[in-house]
Amino acid sequence: MLSHISTLNVTEAAESRRSIRAYKDVEVPDDDLREILRVTGLAPSAFNAQPWRFVVVKDAAVRAQLAEAAYGQKQVTAAPVVIAIYSDMNDTLETIEETIHPGVPADRRAPQALGFRNNFAKQDEAEREQWAASQSYIALGYLTLAASGMGYATSAMLGFKPDEVKKILGLPSHVRVPALVALGVADEEGFTHHRHDIDRIARFI
Ligand SMILES: Cc1cc2nc3c(=O)[nH]c(=O)nc-3n(C[C@H](O)[C@H](O)[C@H](O)COP(=O)(O)O)c2cc1C
Repeated sequence: MLSHISTLNVTEAAESRRSIRAYKDVEVPDDDLREILRVTGLAPSAFNAQPWRFVVVKDAAVRAQLAEAAYGQKQVTAAPVVIAIYSDMNDTLETIEETIHPGVPADRRAPQALGFRNNFAKQDEAEREQWAASQSYIALGYLTLAASGMGYATSAMLGFKPDEVKKILGLPSHVRVPALVALGVADEEGFTHHRHDIDRIARFI
């Protein structure tokens, strides 16, 4: 965590988070990255399947390759870290037993795993991966908030060629990449929030 920052509460983290595209030349300690990912992993997911996976890219040469795949977006090389969030439904299906709560009794564990697998049995690989990618966006939200809460800035990106990103990172072809996230210490303020009024997007009945 940045030494002058104590963890912000959720409201403070959401208020202070802005997409940041200019970064200071300051490294992010691995302990902080692990803590950001730990908090990210607290995100909820259907069946608690946690189909999200991450590649934490610190290597400047790899970030340079990613920047090319991301249409030259400057934050990819400006930030000291880029985290690729990807979904992997094949891995999730193969290993779903790992996510079954320890409190589930022994005789209920196999049926629960079977129920999960049956739920996707009729879907093709692309449909299943779309489901996993949509779950992984929940993790994206948590990641940006967790980083913000620890004093770090982020910039989520969808503007990249997914097949190229997968190739650069050595990811299998079936996975989806919901976002790349640049992460580091901000060197700009970003834009003030411009958001819908609640009454424009919500009804209370
Ligand atoms: C999934 C996702 C993809 C985004 N893709 C890009 C992108 O490729 N390039 C970029 O500069 N900003 C990107 N953004 C940032 C948005 O433009 C930004 O979140 C939005 O304008 C609101 O601004 P704020 O994040 O500063 O509050 C993306 C944000 C999200 C959540």
